[in-house]
This record gives sequence, C-alpha cells and structure tokens, in this order.
Amino acid sequence: GRTLTVGVLGAGTVGTQVIRLLAEQADDFTVRSGARLEVTGVAVRDTRARRDPAVPRDLLTDDATAVATSNDIVIELIGGIEPARTLILAALKSGASVITGNKALIAAHGPQLYAAAAAAGTDFYYEAAVAGAVPVVYALRESMAGDRVTSVLGIVNGTTNYILDEMTTKGLSFADALATAQELGYAEADPTADVDGLDAAAKCAIIASLAFHTRVGLDDVTVEGIRDITAEDIREAHASGCEVKLLAVAQRLGPGAGSGSQGVSTTGDTGGTSGISVRVHPALVPTDHPLASVHGAFNAVLVEAESAGRLMFYGQGAGGAPTASAVLSDVVAAAAHRVYGGQAPRESSYAALPVLGPEAA
Ligand code: NDP
Ligand code: HSE
Repeated sequence: GRTLTVGVLGAGTVGTQVIRLLAEQADDFTVRSGARLEVTGVAVRDTRARRDPAVPRDLLTDDATAVATSNDIVIELIGGIEPARTLILAALKSGASVITGNKALIAAHGPQLYAAAAAAGTDFYYEAAVAGAVPVVYALRESMAGDRVTSVLGIVNGTTNYILDEMTTKGLSFADALATAQELGYAEADPTADVDGLDAAAKCAIIASLAFHTRVGLDDVTVEGIRDITAEDIREAHASGCEVKLLAVAQRLGPGAGSGSQGVSTTGDTGGTSGISVRVHPALVPTDHPLASVHGAFNAVLVEAESAGRLMFYGQGAGGAPTASAVLSDVVAAAAHRVYGGQAPRESSYAALPVLGPEAA
C-alpha cells in the first residue's frame, strides 16, 4: 500500500495528542485515509524538555524548516504568527498538504495562505481553528454550501466560558479560574487572547468568511472580552433569568437578511445598506436559550440559514484530545485527497463583502 509522510510542527497540548493518536490508531488511519501515515519528524523549541512518552524522542528536532519542507502532510501546531506563517508557506510551496489549528494566523493571513495553497496545487485545512472538536468549519464550508446563511451565533472560546462558569458555580476568583483553564490545556499560550476576546474574534472572522463566502479578517471584528465581568454581574444576571456568555456573532444585514437575532441580540435598521456584521462581546443569554446551557470548555454554534432554518453544533471546544480529533479529521481528508482525489477546500475563490460597523447591528 501507499505511505504518506507526516511532519508535525509543535508537540504541546494538541501536538502531543495528535502524535499519540496517529501511533495508537495507525491501522485505523490507514483504512480511513487510504495510505499508511508515517510521522517522520516533530519540530519543537526545546528538544531536551521532558515530554509525554507518546512523543518519540528520536523524531524530535529543532529544525522546523526541514520538517515543514520534507513531508507529504505537514501539521502546524506551534501557534502565533511567526514562525508559523513562514513554515506553512514553505510547506505549501514544497507541495505538502497543510493542516493547522492556528486561528490567529488564519484571521490575520488567511487569504495569503489560501492563495499559496492554490498556487502550489495543494490543500490547506484548519478544522481545529474553530470550536475544537466541533466540526464547524466543515459544516459551514461543505454542509451549508447549498443554502444562504443569514447568521451565526456562537460560544467559541472554551477558556472564557469555563472562567465565567467557575466564578459562579465554585466561587473562584477570575485569576484562579484562569489558572485552572491553563492547567487543563484550554488557554492560548498568551491567555490574554482568550480573556480579551481576541481568540473568539479570530474564530468569528473565520466563521463569517465561511458562512458568507467572503474575506473577513481580525481587524473587521468589533471585540469586547470578559475582563470586566464580576461574580456579582453573573449573580445579577442569574437573578434576572439570564447567563452571561461571551458571544461571537456574524450576521448578514440589510434588505432580505432575515432577523438574525436568534433570540439574543437585535438587528437595527441599516438604512438599506447590505453587508455583514461581525462582533464578539459578553451578552445576557436567557436561560431557556440553547446557548445558555453550554458550560465549561464546551462550545456551541447556532447557524441560521434561509432554507434549513436553525442548526446547532455542540461539543468540546478546547483541550488536547478534542482538538486532536479535529486536526486528525483534516489529516484523513488531506491524505484521502492525495490518494483518491475529490473534494478540496476552495476559500481562494472568495471575494470581499462590505463589513458594516457596530452601529449597523
Ligand atoms: P502549546 O503552547 O501547548 O504547544 C506549542 C508547541 O509548539 C510546543 O511544543 C513548542 O515547543 C512548539 N514551538 C513553539 N515555538 C516554536 C518554534 N519557534 N519552533 C518549533 N516549535 C515551536 O500550544 P497548543 O498545543 O495548546 O496549541 C497549538 C495550536 O493549536 C495553537 O495555534 C492554538 O491556538 C491551537 N489550538 C489549541 C487548542 C487548545 O485547546 N489548546 C484548541 C484549538 C486550537 P516546546 O514544547 O519545546 O516548548
Ligand atoms: N484557547 C482556546 C479556547 C482553545 O479556550 O477556546 C480552543 O481554540
């Protein structure tokens, strides 16, 4: 049978689980993807650091460029903009199929990466970048492709959802709840990205791009995080029959766009201008709303579309194994595409839609 080589960039919370599962389920992955998947190198910062035994020491290297440019499939799990961007571009140029969970990078440089993949005639996948294990990217790009999405409303950051819960259910301080989220592997390397809403904003930009087949970047998203929310705010919300949730909202606005409110926020008069609104902010969610019962590091995304009506996607939004599940779904898709041909991502064909400011929403 055919063998495809795999290079992994980063062996932290997510990379370690990806490497473990590729080894433990090697035969299953051969059946699922049509090729034997052989990990040939794992790039890290510190090759001498103590690691989970699932990461074979003889595969470790600090030469990330070599790993990025000498494999059929390259999985980027370093995070941040550089060197992730340069490594991904080098991998695509070498003809590799590239998989990442790096929402910060996609929200900042997505179009450049899609164009590089198209120019090289290869694939770029990022299911893990939005909502961990929950297949939101696939759902928006593939499952909803026959419909006109009017709005997407989601809880897409596990760390902040976990913190808001712990502050009330266990009475933890904000700082203690954040520290536990970090220990559990939910938070970003720099957790201010979670707390200040930037991680959710990057995901919101990706969601809007896919939902509306357009180009939305991080700078287009109006953002407010949870830093100023107190336990008292949450108790008062409960007393009035609501939960405080950090929501990501992507809506079509203007004539024929539908209400888009999905029971939480409201849509104003846009004066006849068509466009989209993308924003992240804490919101009061009535306890009988489907998003009110999303707790801990779980995520949920509600999609409203003209023909389908409302759909809800729900599951674990952060953590090593759940995120590895999403990464590995892309590995199978990439491998199967190399072996059998078939469906490939096509964001490189998207054009821009006007993004309306917060006053339009
Ligand atoms: P970690 O911080 O746990 O791991 C990062 C890994 O990258 C480490 O192994 C580190 O090496 C390595 N690394 C860092 N800099 C370099 C470099 N310059 N060259 C080579 N290797 C480098 O991150 P996570 O696993 O939590 O996250 C990885 C990605 O997945 C991020 O983009 C994140 O946003 C995304 N993601 C994470 C989720 C989660 O729940 N954790 C969920 C969804 C997406 P060393 O070990 O030597 O320090
Ligand atoms: N830090 C992110 C979160 C990881 O808490 O949701 C998953 O993308």
